[in-house]
Amino acid sequence: MKILVTGGAGYIGSITVERLIKAGAEVIVFDNLYQGHKDAIHPNAVFAQGDLADKHAIEAVISAHKPDGIMHFASYTLVGESVEKPFMYLRDNILNGLNLMESAVKHGVKGFILSSTANLFDDPEHMPIAETERIVPGSPYGESKHILERNLHWMDRLYNMRYACLRYFNACGATETRGEDHDPETHLIPLVLEVALGQRDKIVIFGDDYDTPDGTCVRDYIHVVDLAEAHILAMKTLLNGGSSIKYNLGNGRGFSVKEVIETAREVTGHPIPAEIGVRRPGDPDILIASSEGINHDLGWKPQYPELRTIIEMAWNWHQAHPNGYEK
Ligand code: UFG
Repeated sequence: MKILVTGGAGYIGSITVERLIKAGAEVIVFDNLYQGHKDAIHPNAVFAQGDLADKHAIEAVISAHKPDGIMHFASYTLVGESVEKPFMYLRDNILNGLNLMESAVKHGVKGFILSSTANLFDDPEHMPIAETERIVPGSPYGESKHILERNLHWMDRLYNMRYACLRYFNACGATETRGEDHDPETHLIPLVLEVALGQRDKIVIFGDDYDTPDGTCVRDYIHVVDLAEAHILAMKTLLNGGSSIKYNLGNGRGFSVKEVIETAREVTGHPIPAEIGVRRPGDPDILIASSEGINHDLGWKPQYPELRTIIEMAWNWHQAHPNGYEK
């Protein structure tokens, strides 16, 4: 299969490209390198540098390569930033996604996978969260993904382009060659590992008065390779004539912020000083996914469900790349 990956220089995108190439796919990466890293792009992928805001740029790449499928990772992805800069998220994420969809349907792309998010479920009635849960976006970021999910419904109905919306919970972990390198870093596990590397003095826990067993937020941490494999499975299903689908992707188990820090202490052997700070706006108490849908339909099961393994693999990558992809 020939797959165009937008955001293929980013964290989840670059690792999905690595797995796609391992699975024998032909891959074209489209990325503006705004957040992505050139060194994260697999050497066997064709790289086209460009911005999805430029309709002609993406149109030229799709028309030249005629991919069977598209995996759309390129996006602004931070909940907190989206509250501060709602127009950047509501305008750019949505318009960029539409530019991509328009070229995709024009060139008969058969399968489209959207990186969606647990931020669709800000006020869940049931835990773990299944696909039947009501959608309440928790931020302009979540809203932008919700609208793109809705847009895809029309691409299917009007143009027969099949799609999969994969709602990630907390992506983490690394492979031997690729890992998490954001600037600025805001995610818990890489920040904790930066303390263990001596690059930060401490980790600040954003509140310990949540309605959880130890008072800190509980999240569902899922290994990035398991996410990547879910994309490949979903794409194969779409290209083999499967119907459009939406799946929540997590481990089905939750860990508190304190449990993550404690596990990182065990893995790194570093005391990782922690201090309780104020709540971060918009953080729900608990988010745990039910991935029974994708398990039942496609047989997907996480290969790396243990938090300890996830942190060990991330730690190996951070030790080998203390400055990320910077040499
Ligand atoms: N946290 C801290 N201190 C820090 C950083 C994070 O206590 O310095 C806490 C957060 O408050 C949260 C947990 O650690 O409770 C995890 O936070 P992350 O920032 O690592 O991840 P989020 O759960 O905020 O975000 C993730 C994805 C988003 C997605 C969101 C859905 O990264 O893309 O889940 O809720 F939208």
